[in-house]
Amino acid sequence: MNKLTQITLASIAALALIGCSDSYSDKDTAYGTTVDTPVVAGALKASNRNAKFLVDTDAISLYTFDKDMLNTSNCDAECQKIWPLFLGADTGSEDIKVLPGTDHLAYRKHPLYYFVKDKAPGDVLGNNVKEVWHLVHAPIGSTDSQTALSETTIKQILLTDKDQRALYVFDKDTQNVSNCYDTTPTSGTGCESIWPVFYVSDLGALPAGMNADDFGVIDRDSTRAKEGEPTKQVTYKGKPLYYFSPDNKEALSTKGDWVKGVWHLVELASEKTPSQPTSPYTAEAVAKGKSIFTDPAKCASCHGADGQTPPLGIDNVIARYGDAALITQKLKDMRDNGNPQGRSDVMVGVAEKLSDEAIINLSAFIATLKK
Ligand code: HEC
Repeated sequence: MNKLTQITLASIAALALIGCSDSYSDKDTAYGTTVDTPVVAGALKASNRNAKFLVDTDAISLYTFDKDMLNTSNCDAECQKIWPLFLGADTGSEDIKVLPGTDHLAYRKHPLYYFVKDKAPGDVLGNNVKEVWHLVHAPIGSTDSQTALSETTIKQILLTDKDQRALYVFDKDTQNVSNCYDTTPTSGTGCESIWPVFYVSDLGALPAGMNADDFGVIDRDSTRAKEGEPTKQVTYKGKPLYYFSPDNKEALSTKGDWVKGVWHLVELASEKTPSQPTSPYTAEAVAKGKSIFTDPAKCASCHGADGQTPPLGIDNVIARYGDAALITQKLKDMRDNGNPQGRSDVMVGVAEKLSDEAIINLSAFIATLKK
């Protein structure tokens, strides 16, 4: 078992007081600072970003489970009481398919789940539960199959270094032990070359809200560590921290998130974004509107089932509008304001009997009649 060195924040605070931070030499290695770098006040930051995540078509959050294997769920019946399976059928999308022989849907072979405490669109209460349940970061184009999946934007607070470079954890690491090394220390290829370790001799003052007890330092296996790279590594909650080379040291580049399903950003918190007002003119509204409209006693008798008939001979073909909000406005105007525009009194009489809901549904349907 590697030795865990706790970082002493009191000494850092004392150094900051005597003005040490003015004179530090920030000797950057390729990634992060080296072992002998003097104290850098505040090596970490809590960085905000908005990111897109997969949700179902009702905008309910979906999660993956680190203990699953590709195309295999390891969430048993007890587990499923808390993490209900995301069920469905193949949609023809390459990204989203059922696990072989089941109706449990998986995203790129990673089984998907709901969290029982998420009730409303945008709830993300399951994210990072026990550090093994994660929202699924949605790469561009992941929602090509709109039938099963959609995306939502969530505000995340990420653990980054002082320059806002993203830090990652690796599911294949065990508590306080890194399993990410190059093929050989001199090869320059392999895990450590792709995922450079994060190490600073002192973290400095932590951003508000971070807990010093969550951070530690482990010794890396010096026989396997990459030459010239730190032989120690900072941990967060016992998980060794890494950079990702393709992020290219750019602030808030997060290309490593979810790589192979086993690399994750370190999320300090996530918040749902305020739910966006959704259009009332849904497919369901269109269907309901159609049944009212084509009911012989209602609208179709004068307007025709396709809305193309000039009503009572008046040259006002309603199919031409094609805009649900505009139609709603006209119907409400006729219903609520008498007949300021001198419309046919027959039609005003019809409009006066319509509820708000009927107007929404009818408008949704009439808007589809435009040719
Ligand atoms: C008895 C015949 C009749 C029935 C039934 C009828 N309408 Fe009309 N509707 C008319 C006439 C006539 C006009 C033309 C009004 C004008 O331009 O003066 C009209 C116009 C409209 C307009 C256009 C208003 C505008 O400002 O251009 C809409 C929208 C409309 N009807 C919707 C409906 C809906 C929805 C129903 C069923 C709930 C319905 N109508 C039922 C006769 C009817």
